[in-house]
Amino acid sequence: MSARSVRIRTSSVEATRDAAAALAELARPGDLLLLVGDLGTGKTAFCQGFGRGLGVDEQITSPTFALVQSYTGRLDLNHLDVYRLTSVSEALDLGLNELLDDGGVTLIEWGDTIAGALSADFLEVHLNVDAGPEERSIDLIAVGPAWSARVRSVQTALSEWIDVGTDTASGTGTGTEADGSC
Ligand SMILES: Nc1ncnc2c1ncn2[C@@H]1O[C@H](COP(=O)(O)OP(=O)(O)OP(=O)(O)O)[C@@H](O)[C@H]1O
Ligand SMILES: [Mg+2]
Repeated sequence: MSARSVRIRTSSVEATRDAAAALAELARPGDLLLLVGDLGTGKTAFCQGFGRGLGVDEQITSPTFALVQSYTGRLDLNHLDVYRLTSVSEALDLGLNELLDDGGVTLIEWGDTIAGALSADFLEVHLNVDAGPEERSIDLIAVGPAWSARVRSVQTALSEWIDVGTDTASGTGTGTEADGSC
């Protein structure tokens, strides 16, 4: 496993939500997570679990049409889906920088597409369909100081889902993060 990445595996949507909820225990004000993965891999499911872990009571739904939705919890959750955006400036027009400064935690589906406009300090969460239709491998890759300092805590929080047999993260990220070393 790379010093900056953790790979977990889940075999149901509930397991993905549970893992995300466990990760949310580590969340701090201002945190940013970029959710990366093909259509239907579980980005929204991950956000739902993460919200549960933050103590959000409201039902979290896909913000594909609203683009951004905010929820109240132990820390507020800002949930964005930028799939439909055609330019980075549209993301900034949504008030992204203000959201990142407001003390909540921001999760962005398809966030890799706008990573270039963001400060390089986030956790990338790469979801991939694995062996079966309900299997997912999920690589969590720390980019920048905020999450790099917490990789060991991430490993501990997600130990239940870490697959020790195949623990080499292969996520390619946005090019600045994983060194691929073990
Ligand atoms: N292990 C798993 N983890 C997450 N989702 C799973 C898993 N197994 C099956 N699923 C199913 O995959 C689908 C994931 O849907 P979800 O809306 O979370 O994906 P998404 O990546 O947000 O899609 P989109 O790109 O359209 O936003 C759900 O129907 C869910 O039940
Ligand atoms: Mg989604």
